[in-house]
Amino acid sequence: MKLVVGLAGASGSIYAARFLKALSHLPGETYLIVSPPSLRIFSEEYETKVSKPEEILEFIRSKFGLGTEHQFHIRNFHDIGADIASGSNTWDAMVVVPCSMKTVASITAGLTENLIERAADVSLKERRRLIVVPRETPYNRIHLRNLLSLDEAGGIILPASPGFYQMPKTLDDLGDFIAGRIFNLLGIDASLFPKWEG
Ligand SMILES: Cc1cc2nc3c(=O)[nH]c(=O)nc-3n(C[C@H](O)[C@H](O)[C@H](O)COP(=O)(O)O)c2cc1C
Repeated sequence: MKLVVGLAGASGSIYAARFLKALSHLPGETYLIVSPPSLRIFSEEYETKVSKPEEILEFIRSKFGLGTEHQFHIRNFHDIGADIASGSNTWDAMVVVPCSMKTVASITAGLTENLIERAADVSLKERRRLIVVPRETPYNRIHLRNLLSLDEAGGIILPASPGFYQMPKTLDDLGDFIAGRIFNLLGIDASLFPKWEG
């Protein structure tokens, strides 16, 4: 599987960290784009200091371990001329986790001012799967309208709303719930949480 994964500046770094950790154990490759606000929020939420995407991967490696099956290619957030800015390069799906309301708004408006927004725009125009994990609370009507527009344009909205019926014991369990739901939408059974048995 070939993916594009963007980290935008919303709370919920744990969702990205648990998703990337699980992804690293699967065969395939990922183009990774990290926004500057996302670096800041990751630093605050994990009480660390990351100033570039490589340091996010290094942090995940030291905290959770990273598999070697998956290749990560880092792309510059500001490089709107990168390879994945063009639909002539193919990928199976794009995931934005977590996703800020600003990035939801920009994708919906077709702004393409940075590489996350551009790759998301390409995903939609090329009819490739785009999974967006928005996080804000409460939502105002602008957020709600933008989320609906994104759904209407073909995006899939996967709210950062973990379930509690699986009786999570740790924050990582909550992160894995959302990461597992992303994998479900990618058609991968990553077994990150027990299936509900009725
Ligand atoms: C600590 C912190 C937490 C934030 N949490 C959220 C959030 O949960 N949702 C959101 O939409 N924006 C949040 N923001 C604001 C965004 O980071 C801001 O709108 C930024 O411009 C988003 O840019 P980006 O999507 O390009 O990363 C947060 C900012 C900070 C500093």
